[in-house]
Amino acid sequence: MLMNQTYQSMQGKICLVTGATSGIGNATALGLARQGATVVIVARNQAKGEAACAEIQKASGNPAVDVLLADLSSQASVQQLATTFLARYEHLHVLINNAGVFLTKRHLTVDGLEMTFAVNHLAPFLLTHLLLDRLKASIPARIVNVCSGAHYTAHMNLQDLQLRQGYNVWRAYAQSKLAMLLCSYKLARQLEGSGVTLNCLNPGFVFTNMGMTNVGPRAQMMAKAILSRLGASPEKGALTSLFLSMSREAELINGKYFDKLVMKRTSEDSYDLALQEQVWSESMRLVNLPMEAK
Ligand SMILES: NC(=O)c1ccc[n+]([C@@H]2O[C@H](COP(=O)([O-])OP(=O)(O)OC[C@H]3O[C@@H](n4cnc5c(N)ncnc54)[C@H](OP(=O)(O)O)[C@@H]3O)[C@@H](O)[C@H]2O)c1
Repeated sequence: MLMNQTYQSMQGKICLVTGATSGIGNATALGLARQGATVVIVARNQAKGEAACAEIQKASGNPAVDVLLADLSSQASVQQLATTFLARYEHLHVLINNAGVFLTKRHLTVDGLEMTFAVNHLAPFLLTHLLLDRLKASIPARIVNVCSGAHYTAHMNLQDLQLRQGYNVWRAYAQSKLAMLLCSYKLARQLEGSGVTLNCLNPGFVFTNMGMTNVGPRAQMMAKAILSRLGASPEKGALTSLFLSMSREAELINGKYFDKLVMKRTSEDSYDLALQEQVWSESMRLVNLPMEAK
């Protein structure tokens, strides 16, 4: 069933959006700003961040748009982002973990971790944990995790999460999104009744910069010419993020997955409680967070 999209006023609401310098995140930040929210965008590049901030302010007519710098592939940078946000803003009503990468070659982060897993899963996992108390102190609050339909094809390789063997772009991407989903379901259960909700989504196939850095300028031009005809616009791609962030209908929904505005079941693996525990524990270890007492 396609969900209705009646947005509530976002006046007085503070929203943090990662990956808002481009594509779906940029359109999401604009949608939130248009609805009157204070929007804090996260960017890894200062010039790009400031340009996106100015564009969103102009297009929305809302001056309450701020930019914080962070390279989400670095855990120190994620920690710094959280520290700066907590010092600057008393509340956090909506956290949208949107930034993501799709990389044909295996890269390592400054922390020595495989880049796709680090940016797509560990960064939002860590950021959410660091901001969780502020979300709980701002209820009603919402966490929105931008996932992907790619997770349906994934199997967690717990012996080699970093894909040292047999790396390929799709395997790395799909595994990172399944990891995000597994940990999201566990956290959503923990949050039940707290006033903070957490939901995941697939925006569908959207024409953005995703994957473009994998190829040179000529191939990029050709790819853009083809993909622009096949993919949805970022504005359309942002609709599910906006629905989960500010619709009345989604206010009480928790621990669900929406595919282009339709609530759907995810892969069987994603509901495996033992697997959720294993990926959660390993993620806690990899981001150096203490395990909770049982
Ligand atoms: N496009 C699709 O068809 C599709 C389908 C399913 C799911 N998704 C998901 O949708 C989300 C948004 O993707 P998109 O399609 O809008 O792609 P995009 O246009 O490439 O945007 C990705 C955003 O993430 C940021 N980012 C990447 N690595 C970062 C890092 N290390 N530190 C900080 N920011 C970083 C990028 O910053 P820069 O501007 O500096 O590069 C950019 O703002 C991703 O999670 C993606 O997996 C997309």
